[in-house]
Amino acid sequence: MQIPFPPLSRLIIALICFLSVVPDTPAADASASHHTFAIGTNDFLLDGAKFQIRCGEVHAARVPREYWRNRLQLAKAMGLNTVCAYLFWNQIEFQPGQFDWSGQADVMEFCRIAQQEGLWVILRPGPYACAEWDGGGLPWWLLKYDDIKLRTRDPRFLQAATNYLAEVAKQFAPLQITHGGPILMVQVENEYGSYGNDSEYMGALRQAMLDAGFDVTLFDCNPSYDIKKGQRPDLFPVVNFGADPANGFKSLREVYPQGPQMCGEFYPGWFDTWGSPHHLGKTPQYLADLEYMLTNDESFSIYMAHGGTTFGLWSGADRPFKPDTSSYDYDAPISEAGWPTPKFFLTRELFAKYLLPGETLPEPPATNPVIAIAPIEMSQCAPIFDNLPPAMQDTTPRAMEKYDQGHGCILYRTTVPAGPQRMLEAVAVHDFGFVFLDGVRVGVLDRRSVIYKLLLPERKKPATLDILVEAVGHVNFGPEVYDRKGIQAPVKLGGTELTGWDIFNLPLDDKMLSKLNFRSTATTGPAFWRGMATIENPGDTFLDLSHWGKGVVWVNGHCLGRYWNIGPTETAYLPGCWLHAGENEIVILDLLGPDKPEVTGLEQPILNDLHPEKDFAKSRRPAVKLRLDSSLPVLTAQFAMGGNSQDVKFPAPTTGRYFCLESLSAFDGQPFTAVAELDVLGADAKPLSHEGWTIAYVDSEEREREDGTAENAIDGQTANYWHTQWGAVQPPQPHQLVLDLGKSEIISGFRYVPRQSAGAGRIKDYRIYVGDHLIEK
Ligand code: GLA
Repeated sequence: MQIPFPPLSRLIIALICFLSVVPDTPAADASASHHTFAIGTNDFLLDGAKFQIRCGEVHAARVPREYWRNRLQLAKAMGLNTVCAYLFWNQIEFQPGQFDWSGQADVMEFCRIAQQEGLWVILRPGPYACAEWDGGGLPWWLLKYDDIKLRTRDPRFLQAATNYLAEVAKQFAPLQITHGGPILMVQVENEYGSYGNDSEYMGALRQAMLDAGFDVTLFDCNPSYDIKKGQRPDLFPVVNFGADPANGFKSLREVYPQGPQMCGEFYPGWFDTWGSPHHLGKTPQYLADLEYMLTNDESFSIYMAHGGTTFGLWSGADRPFKPDTSSYDYDAPISEAGWPTPKFFLTRELFAKYLLPGETLPEPPATNPVIAIAPIEMSQCAPIFDNLPPAMQDTTPRAMEKYDQGHGCILYRTTVPAGPQRMLEAVAVHDFGFVFLDGVRVGVLDRRSVIYKLLLPERKKPATLDILVEAVGHVNFGPEVYDRKGIQAPVKLGGTELTGWDIFNLPLDDKMLSKLNFRSTATTGPAFWRGMATIENPGDTFLDLSHWGKGVVWVNGHCLGRYWNIGPTETAYLPGCWLHAGENEIVILDLLGPDKPEVTGLEQPILNDLHPEKDFAKSRRPAVKLRLDSSLPVLTAQFAMGGNSQDVKFPAPTTGRYFCLESLSAFDGQPFTAVAELDVLGADAKPLSHEGWTIAYVDSEEREREDGTAENAIDGQTANYWHTQWGAVQPPQPHQLVLDLGKSEIISGFRYVPRQSAGAGRIKDYRIYVGDHLIEK
């Protein structure tokens, strides 16, 4: 039967209707069609039609590239129409001027797959990203300059950043929607308002991106309480918050009265740090806030929709120094191994109610096979001290970066004379200094507690002193990004400076691993261990590392990340695509030594198993007495109600090493106290750097039911908080938190950020004490 063709006019009308009803997903075949995206008076406009961005964050670097399509299909099936992706400068330009876009860094391919799967893309190239990634993405080699000013118009920084952005544009400009690609918008920097206030710096980056070829909307993101700083009218602003969208968008409207509103980061969970409980989000609140944004035509990006794993040595550290786990599960809707969780299905259900006409949700793709692996004996050993590279000589130890190394470990060796027990002390050690005398470990210098001294035992004859320093990720947030690794000299013994050192680079890279000499005798010292696993049908698994101390693990040359037996993570995610049928090599570096040299593959991750008893720092904080009776409060006052950040100025500046906030009551009348963030303002009324800060004393902190650790109040992140115990015990008010600033400071006031998410603990009446004698050791 001959199909009669309708007249031309009807054909054109049908075509237009077809184009207007097809869901506004990027055309799989880029060249086939040309879409437009714009910032409308009230809405985002895609091809001229209102478009609500339902976005989720997925980091290509944190997902094996073989699984990118699977994760993007999951994102689509959850109901997202856009994915947001960071680029990490230091991963792409590991050595100055050498750009590597292969493997996990091939984010262009990630974007192409997103387009093929019907997803738009929002790109966040940096130069600074944060993201619990080493240094927030800033390359280690910038720290070779002693006086560089990071994230400023320091010409050395700006030139390096401009070079990088030009390279980024070369790769990504063709993938912009303006060129038939999926990229709708590109972010300039990241939460700059939480770091600085120089809008010219943001302007310079913006111009560099325009000059390099970006022609889509350029935007910036900030948390609600920092949104005014560094703001520019020529950058589209989005606001980041973890809860309370109404309040978040209210602060956005203060800088952006008219136009589409977007939450650039909406947190369903949070990231984990070693030694603190695993974070679980509050799902009912998360769903309610999402629904609020959906019904109010506000756009959003779920940070993280899928966290994945920070493979390699890329995990960063939270301020002042809380190293991040390699697992970046983030309690996200899509779990670390790519499993759709109950939160995934609840989100999918919710989004299904807000689809555009004609838009449908595909079924989630099949989950990758999961296997268990029987115990593998790690029978071979390569002790570090027997596998050292040629040494460099130096009079005094310098930072790791000065020896052209950005990650891994570094060994500092010298000879100490015979003599009695004496105090060994360094100015600082970033991050853990394992101290050995003639190869026997005598202690650990630990940045977490800022303790950089220990008693070196008596020596009957001259002895070899080794300080094996492990760097566990550059701090990725705040003024502490000047995080040079290694030893800060002088190193003194009994007050006398030790000079004449051998320095050994131990970058833990492929080249170093390829040179290791394994032998089949065990050792007790820091060593690499090797074992072989015969696997018939490869699949995803979780290596149980709970028998091991602290270090890094590799499988078939892929670095799975760091492990540490104090938890909360006790397993390392091993993607099946990195295994092969037959023999598989597992290498484990253990700086402490295993209690049993065996590793097993589990079918489930262990993400929440704390073991403070295994920590080489015997107590999280030295036992001290609080002595408020010997000093008068600097201030007795009442905070304002609500969640806004509050700056409090003292009647007159005062000085002291310790800063004590004593909560006397809460607005909800309950016995609990919670603080999202505390900053201490110096003589210039600006926040002091948290470098070297520790919590000297806290009367109560919840660490069972949630991570209410006191350090959360000084990590610069307002989405987490210190919370007094509310589980097994509920101690009454008053509650005290004492910061040790490391040295006496001039203090003119402080900044208090109340708990952001709804819940107990917002302080009403309080007292402040400042002094050098608030603590008795
Ligand atoms: C900030 C940053 C993100 C990430 C989150 C916490 O808002 O912009 O990169 O660090 O916090 O996960």
